[in-house]
Amino acid sequence: MPVLLMKSNAKDYHKFATKTVELLSQYLKKSQEGKVPVLQQMPAQKLGEALNLNQLIKKGGLDLAQMQTFLQTYFENSQHMHHPQYIGHQVSVPHVASGLADMVHGVVNNPMAIYEMGPSAAVIERTVVNWMLSKVGWFHWEKYTNFEHHPENGSGILTHGGSLANMTAMLAARAAAAPDAWENGAPDDLVVLAPEVSHYSIARSISMIGLGKKSIVSIPVNELEVMQPEALQSALEKVKSEGKRVMCVIANGCATATGLYDPIDEIGHFCEENNLWFHVDGAHGASALISEKEKHLLKGVRRADSMIWDTHKMLRTTTLCAAVLFKNPTCLSNAFQQKGSYIFHEKEQVGFDLLPYQVECTKAGLGTKLFWTLAAEGEQGVRDFVEGRYAITRQMHDLIDAHPDFECPYFPEANILCFRYIHFDDAKQLALRNAITKKGNFYITSAEVSGVRYLRLTVINPLTTLGHIEKLLEEIVAQASNP
Ligand SMILES: Cc1ncc(COP(=O)(O)O)c(C=O)c1O
Repeated sequence: MPVLLMKSNAKDYHKFATKTVELLSQYLKKSQEGKVPVLQQMPAQKLGEALNLNQLIKKGGLDLAQMQTFLQTYFENSQHMHHPQYIGHQVSVPHVASGLADMVHGVVNNPMAIYEMGPSAAVIERTVVNWMLSKVGWFHWEKYTNFEHHPENGSGILTHGGSLANMTAMLAARAAAAPDAWENGAPDDLVVLAPEVSHYSIARSISMIGLGKKSIVSIPVNELEVMQPEALQSALEKVKSEGKRVMCVIANGCATATGLYDPIDEIGHFCEENNLWFHVDGAHGASALISEKEKHLLKGVRRADSMIWDTHKMLRTTTLCAAVLFKNPTCLSNAFQQKGSYIFHEKEQVGFDLLPYQVECTKAGLGTKLFWTLAAEGEQGVRDFVEGRYAITRQMHDLIDAHPDFECPYFPEANILCFRYIHFDDAKQLALRNAITKKGNFYITSAEVSGVRYLRLTVINPLTTLGHIEKLLEEIVAQASNP
């Protein structure tokens, strides 16, 4: 039998892509119907062999049959995010439209940060950023495709993930506090006031931009790890008495472990009064801004100077896509002050280049992931998703809290919920989570809140119902009584 090798031409693309789409559709169907384990894990080396990686890397020759075998093994050993009992991390269960955007990118592959290297993708990025800015109140034209200057419009850019978005915001805050830092390095009198429980990308960013982790001043949080804004005044006074300056104040909107929002309005007020840069880490929680019902959770966000917002969390896009948004348009341009002559040439050109405003050099058409999702669902569809997942998480709280064997430490504000099997200590909670994960029927996570270990749900799958949570509680009780 002649072997059909995959060549990089249109005919083969059609044949292999059609097969891939057929297999992906089956994978999606089985996952959504919950007919496969959410996750099964085999030892890494065994998996490498099952995937036939050595042979394929050395010899190539992927034909249709081999591709099918490979994909089957790949799917079986993947985290089945579309399974309704995937209730794990804060990564979206993507809308298929967003996946199609990735498929288009897989062929077109435009590194659109230079306009001439991807005009459509560049226009889409600016347009979806304007849509996001409008939700914060930092965009005032009627059409999102209006790229003209407006005195009250902010600015923003998409990055490969929220960690990079946080770092970009920190660079902009540094440029505002110490404009010569780009040239001379970070001064050693800058500090950042951040809640004790900031996402670790904040501490990393502070180190990466040369301030050192030592410059983080932790602002106390309450027992639910929500920042206590009244602690800011004394922190500021102490910083000043030590001859230091505050580069920025950071708030969670919302916190990673609990999904609870810091009091953004109060913190924003404090920052305005004291003329301090205010950054809101809205990687997960900023999506509440698209809902009239839920946007009060971010009340006062317009007082911020910068904010980040991951679309690959609650806006149903594939990984990775995040936005860093600024109230003042010049902040973004000040963040990076470097010129590369081969790109930043002074010439008359059509469109706009995003390159001077981002960490990445080559960047994928990230905005297309969000655009396709919006184009499929409309803003209303995405809003319904966010509101629906927030609402059902609150019902899950009531269900779990009413159960005699479980307790929840708080009423959820977002779609993240911590809970505990009351008869077990911390070590056993973790063992429970691991045992449940190993079984493969459910995928859940675990988190510490104020030093206490909890089981944790992120209700990000559109198919997860209260019925699934009832089954989960049954499985946990059975596991606990028969470890
Ligand atoms: C509050 C917060 N900030 C930042 C991040 C980092 O985002 P990313 O994983 O997109 O880099 C996360 C990730 O979960 C987060 O929860």
